[in-house]
Amino acid sequence: MSTILTPALTAHWDEPDAFTLAGYRRDGGYRALPKALAMEPDQVIATLKDSVLRGRGGAGFPTGVKWGFIPQGDGKPHYLVVNADESEPGACKDMPTLLNNPQALIEGIVIACYAVRADRAFVYVRGEVLHVARRLQHAVAEARDAGFLGDNILGSGFDLEVVVHCGAGAYICGEETALLDSLEGLRGQPRLKPPFPAIAGLYACPTVVNNVESIATVPWILANGAGDFAALGTEKSKGFGIFSLSGHVTTPGQYEAPLGTTLRELLGLAGGIRAGHRLKFWTPGGSSTPLFTDEQLDVPLDYESVQAAGSMLGTRSIQLFDETTCVVRVVLRWIEFYKHESCGKCTPCREGSYWVVQLLRDLEDGKGSEADLDKLLDICSNITGRAFCILGDSIEPAVKSSISLFRDEYLEHQRIGGCPFDPAASTLFTMESAR
Ligand SMILES: Cc1cc2nc3c(=O)[nH]c(=O)nc-3n(C[C@H](O)[C@H](O)[C@H](O)COP(=O)(O)O)c2cc1C
Ligand code: SF4
Repeated sequence: MSTILTPALTAHWDEPDAFTLAGYRRDGGYRALPKALAMEPDQVIATLKDSVLRGRGGAGFPTGVKWGFIPQGDGKPHYLVVNADESEPGACKDMPTLLNNPQALIEGIVIACYAVRADRAFVYVRGEVLHVARRLQHAVAEARDAGFLGDNILGSGFDLEVVVHCGAGAYICGEETALLDSLEGLRGQPRLKPPFPAIAGLYACPTVVNNVESIATVPWILANGAGDFAALGTEKSKGFGIFSLSGHVTTPGQYEAPLGTTLRELLGLAGGIRAGHRLKFWTPGGSSTPLFTDEQLDVPLDYESVQAAGSMLGTRSIQLFDETTCVVRVVLRWIEFYKHESCGKCTPCREGSYWVVQLLRDLEDGKGSEADLDKLLDICSNITGRAFCILGDSIEPAVKSSISLFRDEYLEHQRIGGCPFDPAASTLFTMESAR
């Protein structure tokens, strides 16, 4: 059967021992490392640049270019920090990668550290996912026992230690500079940039911060060649990535496919919207990206096309909602999340997120007015661009796009004095199955 899928990271997730070192090696793992260690570090960076891998943590910054920013011959320690703090609503690709494929991440870490001349790497894992952290710790121990970590790796003279660090569980600690403060034992709040981490990151030393999926993709690129990677995807969004489908879809899960794949194609693989229902709205890149409807089913899911269509690819967290869903309720839930996770450092986000939640609650309860919609938009536009970090900017997109697409639905709440939807109808379990 022909398929648009390009399973690389996800290729062996159905094997019970894929997460072990033996399973990973049987499936071709650790082929890339000797190849990389035989190259000059700068050649490894050049290979990453040629692949045009763009960071998979949301912003899409080219990974090879980021590695190239690390100053050489500066006499300072260099660090790699892997961002495994995944926790935005709908984001669900890094945790399954860590559970099923931790050795791919470790192999990628060794290659990345060799390239940027770092002898210590940290993986910052969110604290709540203890089972994920334990699996990763086990994988690090296995890799070390086998000589893939530690001193003189594979006789190359290159030394590397990996520290698995558990965060206390704060969404803001996924923001790279807040993460660095947290790792240093400080309260996790964003730092002023510049200086960027490549110049003054962890312990004020040059630091690369990369997403789990970015680093776990590196061995595939080294093993198969930058050209094979760049041959997939679209002109400016190369390669493959994991699309996480959740919500009212028949088969939710992770679908690894070339960037530029459309939602219509992904839904073809995922069995479509749940039986008897139709798509109402969806997020292409998670809760911080403007909503799409069925009019965007054929938009290629690459950075440029999604932006041209008015949204953002983000972390490819595709949340799907059918016609039983109240859009006001969904947006309220998301903004409650941002309000809860706001670190409080800057006023627009700390106060603004609170006001937006108050207004949305009133609107969902049918106690608002049409004027509140304008007030909501006004507050949101005063947060965007005025907040200290991107968490603040994440509040406006869902609010603004939902009002633009579903203004009548907001007003219907006020007309009837409450929510016109039955929340039970949009749940994925019936009362019968819950008994
Ligand atoms: C509030 C906030 C939360 C973030 N959470 C994550 C996260 O959980 N994982 C991640 O990789 N990047 C996250 N990022 C993006 C990081 O700051 C950074 O851009 C990313 O780790 C860089 O990796 P990449 O170049 O490989 O994409 C977050 C950014 C913000 C503003
Ligand atoms: S935008 Fe929000 S999360 Fe970011 S620094 Fe300001 S208060 Fe903290």
